[in-house]
Amino acid sequence: MSHHQFTLRQHLLAEQARHGIDSDLILLLEDIATACRIISHRIRSGAFANVLGATNNTNVQGETQKQLDVIANDEFVEHCRNCRRVAALVSEEVDEVYWLKDKAVPGDYIVYFDPLDGSSNLDVNLSVGSIFSVVRLPEEIDATDDRSVLRPGNEQICAGYSVYGPSTALVITAGNGVSGFTHHNGTGEFRLTSRNLTIPEETSEFAINASRYVLWDTPIRRYFDECIAGKSGPREQGFNMRWTASMVAEVHRILTRGGIFMYPADAGNRATGGKLRLMYEANPMALIVEQAGGAASTGTERIMDVQPTSHHQRVPVILGSKSEVERLDRYHDGAIS
Ligand code: AHG
Ligand code: MN
Ligand code: MN
Repeated sequence: MSHHQFTLRQHLLAEQARHGIDSDLILLLEDIATACRIISHRIRSGAFANVLGATNNTNVQGETQKQLDVIANDEFVEHCRNCRRVAALVSEEVDEVYWLKDKAVPGDYIVYFDPLDGSSNLDVNLSVGSIFSVVRLPEEIDATDDRSVLRPGNEQICAGYSVYGPSTALVITAGNGVSGFTHHNGTGEFRLTSRNLTIPEETSEFAINASRYVLWDTPIRRYFDECIAGKSGPREQGFNMRWTASMVAEVHRILTRGGIFMYPADAGNRATGGKLRLMYEANPMALIVEQAGGAASTGTERIMDVQPTSHHQRVPVILGSKSEVERLDRYHDGAIS
């Protein structure tokens, strides 16, 4: 017998009754869910609408924008601005902060997003996703100064991502655990399919772009070498490796069956601080992973405690099963075990 699955709205209203989350946050999350549903549709019909492939533009990161990067960004902007509490938007695809209010007061939100993550996967029909984060302002900020959006991850009240894979999934935390929803074709609803997603403490699966081995620092090399040494190595166990080139897909796998994901700073990317962006990739994923019982670190600091200095700043990222992240922290500390 099939049991009733909560819709996103039913779930959010139940969360509100239990934990008192803002009504405006519920409306914002529903609008973000709509944006994700539209993006999912645009991706899935991309080959027919001629929207696969690159534009002639490069974004602020110096990366070539795909047509779908721009389409996804526009959907996020259009839907997030419905919420009267949103004071500013920070997008991977837009250089400046997008201010929606002249004056940002306590209780207003800043929304940070990567509208399309893993977009190099589009052309090869592999999973991509969207990532978002919401900070609620504890004080009034200067809406004429882009530096006002430089809030640390520990101020996030909510974060989530959508993954456009074999199904479209939406994973959300509002600070009371992590819930997973699946898009139901036909009704168009997101329905609750995983309650209280929890990352197993121990794991034997790791994800890293190993083609960068020669560029890595000693702690990362050591961790990797020990994993691939298998049963006869110091870890005395076999490990499995994955790399999808889409952080959303990696985090989704880790939330489902555990593991660790690393995109460290290395000799090739250190000048820019790493590869992944702090405010709309690392911070939201760090909140989700911590809420699911895991950990997220730069190797030397908890990701959510990093004080941002620029809204497109990059950071080293190590996240997933707690015991493995802690092990990497120890290796960065210079500890021998
Ligand atoms: P984006 O498509 O938003 O630029 O992000 C891609 C990121 C991340 O999702 C992924 O883990 C990593 O870049 C892939 O990097 P490699 O190209 O080194 O595999
Ligand atoms: Mn990304
Ligand atoms: Mn992106």
